[in-house]
Amino acid sequence: MKDLLNKKILFIICGGISAYKSLETIRIFKKHNAQIKTILTKNAKEFVTPLSVTSLSKGKVYDDLFSLENEAEMDHISLSRWADVIIIAPATANTISKLSQGSSDDLASTVTLASNKQVFLAPAMNVRMWEHKSTQINLKKLKSYGYKIIGPEIGDMACGEYGEGKMSEPLVIYKEIQNFLFDKIKNNNFKALVTAGPTNEYIDPVRFITNKSSGRQGYEIAKSLHKRGFDTTLISGPTNLKVDENIKLIKVETAEEMFKATQKSLPTDIAIFAAAVADFKLRDKQKEKIKKIENLTLNLEKNIDILNYVSNHNSMRPKIVVGFAAETSNLEKNAAEKLKNKNCDWIIANNVSKDESGFNAEHNEIKIFYKNKKMKTENISLRKKSEISEEIVDRIVAQIN
Ligand code: PMT
Repeated sequence: MKDLLNKKILFIICGGISAYKSLETIRIFKKHNAQIKTILTKNAKEFVTPLSVTSLSKGKVYDDLFSLENEAEMDHISLSRWADVIIIAPATANTISKLSQGSSDDLASTVTLASNKQVFLAPAMNVRMWEHKSTQINLKKLKSYGYKIIGPEIGDMACGEYGEGKMSEPLVIYKEIQNFLFDKIKNNNFKALVTAGPTNEYIDPVRFITNKSSGRQGYEIAKSLHKRGFDTTLISGPTNLKVDENIKLIKVETAEEMFKATQKSLPTDIAIFAAAVADFKLRDKQKEKIKKIENLTLNLEKNIDILNYVSNHNSMRPKIVVGFAAETSNLEKNAAEKLKNKNCDWIIANNVSKDESGFNAEHNEIKIFYKNKKMKTENISLRKKSEISEEIVDRIVAQIN
């Protein structure tokens, strides 16, 4: 098994009978040389003691949000920054509910809310609590925020019932985290480029042609790539969105600027073109504001196709080139044509004729068309753009490694 030397793991143990399994989980991480700090919730201390946790982890155990001693040594924000990854195991129904509401009334929830790292949850609860609609809705919310869920498993429960709700075994939890951390290290060797948002094509100094793209889908893809360790550059048309400062953000306005920024960002290993680049620009942009006249004819010419340029670049073609296809009809046919004509490895088609998905929506629904895979297409049903991005990046990671 690979070693976790220098990897910093923050364990959060909540109050449930499975808390005893967390001790074994900590033991496995320690055996593989991880550095461990632990937070015990108030209820967790009814099941395991700080002394047993610190003896196994050889690291500090925190339990109080308002401890003077802890704040002086490492405050709750530093604690969330210290960790490479946060594992909440067992994650009780109560903690899941609190996190989904953004609650921060104890050290565990405050550190999790303040974290900019990957958070894993290993839920454990009675089968009825697990199946309850409120728990499932809360989990769906957390997944859409980027939390990863490990388990639970089906089996006999401490309460005597049988069903889904048992915390995953310590080794399963260890393997998930190990894979995540090592993928991250491997992905660190790869550069990724994402385009996002609309472009503005000026008619005169104050007017331009644009489209409804909010940039959200491209930004979420860049965030997912960055979270998974890729050295990520995001070339963005005009949007109001923000990204982590570790993502290299290049702001542009016109297709021509987006093209130049893309050229400068080559070579890259992965290129994902989520921008809605204007297909046309003005042939003769006016230097002065155009006066009100009876009829105005705009003379348009084709913009350079950035995706086409990159995917046909002989010496600097990325290993994986992914284009998007925004379609209002004949999605299958048009996407298949774009896959071929634009020389992409994948085309991600989205139907942009619906209000609830595509342009300027919170959600998206996609169909991926692959050039060289046995499976020629794959549908990913309607979900938040952040979740769609995770699905896309899961597939990128699988292919690049
Ligand atoms: O930004 P959001 O509001 O989140 O919406 C997301 C989205 C709907 C814009 C996104 O999911 C999407 O579909 N982006 C591509 C939109 C588009 O312009 O599709 P297209 O079928 O016209 O272009 C095909 C591909 O060629 C795209 O990858 C596009 O980025 C690329 N292209 C197109 C023209 C051009 N001059 N240069 C390009 O690189």
